[in-house]
Amino acid sequence: MATARSGPRIGTAKVSIVGAGSVGAAVAYACLLRGTANTIALFDTNAARVRAEVLDLSHGTQFTPACRIEGSDDVAVTAKSDLVVITAGAKQQPGQSRLDLAAANVAITQSVTPRLLAESPDAVLLFVSNPVDIVTAAAIAISGVDDGRIFGSGTVLDSGRLRYLIAEGAGVAIENTHAFIVGEHGDSELALWSGATVGGIPIDSYTVDGRVVFDDRTRAKIFHEVVRSAYEIIQGKGATNLAIGLSTARIVEAVLRDQRRVLPVSSLQTGTHGVRDVCLSLPTIVDAGGADRVLEVPLSDDELAGLAESAATLRNVQKSLGL
Ligand code: 2OP
Repeated sequence: MATARSGPRIGTAKVSIVGAGSVGAAVAYACLLRGTANTIALFDTNAARVRAEVLDLSHGTQFTPACRIEGSDDVAVTAKSDLVVITAGAKQQPGQSRLDLAAANVAITQSVTPRLLAESPDAVLLFVSNPVDIVTAAAIAISGVDDGRIFGSGTVLDSGRLRYLIAEGAGVAIENTHAFIVGEHGDSELALWSGATVGGIPIDSYTVDGRVVFDDRTRAKIFHEVVRSAYEIIQGKGATNLAIGLSTARIVEAVLRDQRRVLPVSSLQTGTHGVRDVCLSLPTIVDAGGADRVLEVPLSDDELAGLAESAATLRNVQKSLGL
């Protein structure tokens, strides 16, 4: 017998997004298109901007999975969120590195984090603002929440950039490539080539017509492009926003659907590969509780050294900010 339904079934998952700039709006748009959440709330101190984004997104809801869009310049709009994405802060100007934003965005993080946790004491907090590893460390320090519930988008986007370039070079679907960028989401990051595969084949054995496709020179070129691509996009359009929006929606889904996906998110490290007391990215299981266990992915000696260097870079910035 068919069950009568009284109207559209709208669930209860609520995602709030702090910052209605180009990144916050792109995260909201990606979540809306993908049906990631049932309620999306935007919080920004610029009331006119947040109202404009709420209207613009709401007007599209006929064409998306069911979703309610809310927004305000009052943090109370984020109350009872399951997950809060934080995109607020100064953005990179052409020529600036992500680390140049550290002081300004740490101050914003230290002020907003306690207010968000007061509104949603059990929410997972996902930081996207840059430098994401440093602001995540600042949020953990100010809140005392160090169980993985506060983590950062890390190198999920950088790994997407790497996989895109490998897929292009190999002539295969991106889903059939596996490779991680780890460390800082920034200039000291590194590619884990030793574990990279194409269609299950280790990347250094992947050949087309007997020719090794990803030789040392090609890999160096690809990695350079991954690290420089944000700078190129910022030069051309003022900010990167669309791909970070999509990759963030993907991370949000791993949490809301308790998927235990392995993603290179930024979390407080506690000793994997000898790294501790800094937030940086390593392949990590992401589930309803946030960043859970960091995987012990085998690393080559060069990769271990690169990771230690990246951790030292971040530790120095943390120290200079008193974190
Ligand atoms: C990005 O990598 C700038 O962090 C931003 O797109």
